[in-house]
Amino acid sequence: MKKLFIIANWKSNKTIEEAEQWFHDFAEKLKSDSSNIENKEIIVCPSFILFEHARYCSNNLKLPIRFGAQNISPFDKGAYTGEVNGEQIKEFAQYVIIGHSERRKNFSETNEMLKQKVLMAKKYNLMPIFCIQNQDSPVPQEIDVIAYEPPTAIGTGNPDTPENAQRVAKIVKERTGVANVLYGGSVTSSNVKTFTNMPDIDGLLVGGASLDSLEFLAIIKNA
Ligand code: PGA
Repeated sequence: MKKLFIIANWKSNKTIEEAEQWFHDFAEKLKSDSSNIENKEIIVCPSFILFEHARYCSNNLKLPIRFGAQNISPFDKGAYTGEVNGEQIKEFAQYVIIGHSERRKNFSETNEMLKQKVLMAKKYNLMPIFCIQNQDSPVPQEIDVIAYEPPTAIGTGNPDTPENAQRVAKIVKERTGVANVLYGGSVTSSNVKTFTNMPDIDGLLVGGASLDSLEFLAIIKNA
């Protein structure tokens, strides 16, 4: 049975109080039924401001989750106002999302900058979840996990077809040699299984549906 990566990308959402409630509800529901979570790497990616409290909640509630950052500075520590660097992220997270289409579009992140971000992640032993938009998107060296996220599927309620996602995942694996390809874009608890049934899809990157802890848990269980 393949191991699945199930990633919650909260994007720019949630206050500390809302995050606390999310962990609390997740833990309550998991306590009543913890079936179908084995062989799944559950990763939550909150805003930086939430990290400290999110870790506290997760430890306290003994949740089987790991943390990821949604971004990383392309620079090491130093005079880079507003940036959060790899050494800082390493204190809280094991993973980092790099190359999300929202960052490419809204923050003009270039392929060159993304390469720098991957280098920084590697320097601090953070595993990049590298996002690509189509089968031809460039992928830097030494990536272990790719997330295929067609922009038309993100936040639209209009996911790619599982057959096309499988086709792209297979092509990308052959082209890059990367072992794990995830799918992202309008994943819900109702459609998740149609993607994870595909032989070359090794998990999901979930945005909107991950903001509700019970829906996210249902995605994990149905995956
Ligand atoms: P969505 O976002 O699940 O809300 O479509 C996915 C993503 O952007 O990672």
